[in-house]
Amino acid sequence: MNQVLELYLKTKKDWDKKSSVRSSGESYDLNINKIDPKKDPDWHVSNYSGILQHEKLSSLTEEQKKFVRGTQLLEFVIKTTKFEIDYVNVVANNLALGKYYFKLPEVLKLDALKIYTDEGFHAHFSLQMSDQIKKYYKIDDDLSPYLDGFFEKLNNLGNRFDKNYKYLSLIAAVIVSESMIVQDISNEMKDVVYEPIRAMFKDHMIDEAFHANYFGTLFKIIWPQLLEKEKEILGINLCEAMKVLGAPRVDIYYYSLPKIGFDKKIVSKFISDIYDNSEWNQNKIKKRMSNILKLLNSCGVFEISSVKKEFSNQGLI
Ligand SMILES: [Fe+2]
Ligand SMILES: [Fe+2]
Repeated sequence: MNQVLELYLKTKKDWDKKSSVRSSGESYDLNINKIDPKKDPDWHVSNYSGILQHEKLSSLTEEQKKFVRGTQLLEFVIKTTKFEIDYVNVVANNLALGKYYFKLPEVLKLDALKIYTDEGFHAHFSLQMSDQIKKYYKIDDDLSPYLDGFFEKLNNLGNRFDKNYKYLSLIAAVIVSESMIVQDISNEMKDVVYEPIRAMFKDHMIDEAFHANYFGTLFKIIWPQLLEKEKEILGINLCEAMKVLGAPRVDIYYYSLPKIGFDKKIVSKFISDIYDNSEWNQNKIKKRMSNILKLLNSCGVFEISSVKKEFSNQGLI
């Protein structure tokens, strides 16, 4: 435990100086009134939205493609807002107040509240951005029916186990998401050209690197404290969480594509043409999860045969 903590203390020392809520001073305002529709500076991520690779969508106008990408960004910020405060911060709260039975060093309880603060700020600017994107596209519709399915899947993690173990499902979802988000955001950032969005992704990524370090440390500290049964359940939950969190984000296409004239049945067909293959459902997930898979391996998670079987059935190891 000492070595793990020593490394953590060393690597987290710039956190206060760098965390966006304390130091960035950015407003992340999209300034939608200043976006000239004729010279739209491509404020969404241009290689986003894998669905646009479908040959039947190649004839969409540039404006329609931008709408598909813009609403994809909208999906990202809406999901982020909810995930930060309904999932990460619930776990951060429990950790800070010592509500779990495992023993935690004081510094991890304290730092859970740094995460709580960071995520509150991330939720704030994500919600602001989603309001502005909706305004830009004049979207008044309630988008929750399109996005609730994702949260339902998260809430169903670990349902095969007794509900007394449910807290392990939430911990699994948070550990997985907090370890993958840095890789995720840096991919999404690659060709963002519009400054408020670039700044938002960049600052969020810096914070998430500290969070990934925190949750990696947390995992190393709690894993040895778990009983065998709990290890098995947490291990299987981690695998389920990777499948849900690593799956391609396609929900919003059921909103965006019908808006430009495609019916839902066709949208399903497009989605399955593009995404129903091992490239999207295994290889890409494995890549996005490479850091956490390494962490689990080093902690001996795959030494539990039922857990190992679960991961290999999903093609993740
Ligand atoms: Fe965050
Ligand atoms: Fe985070």
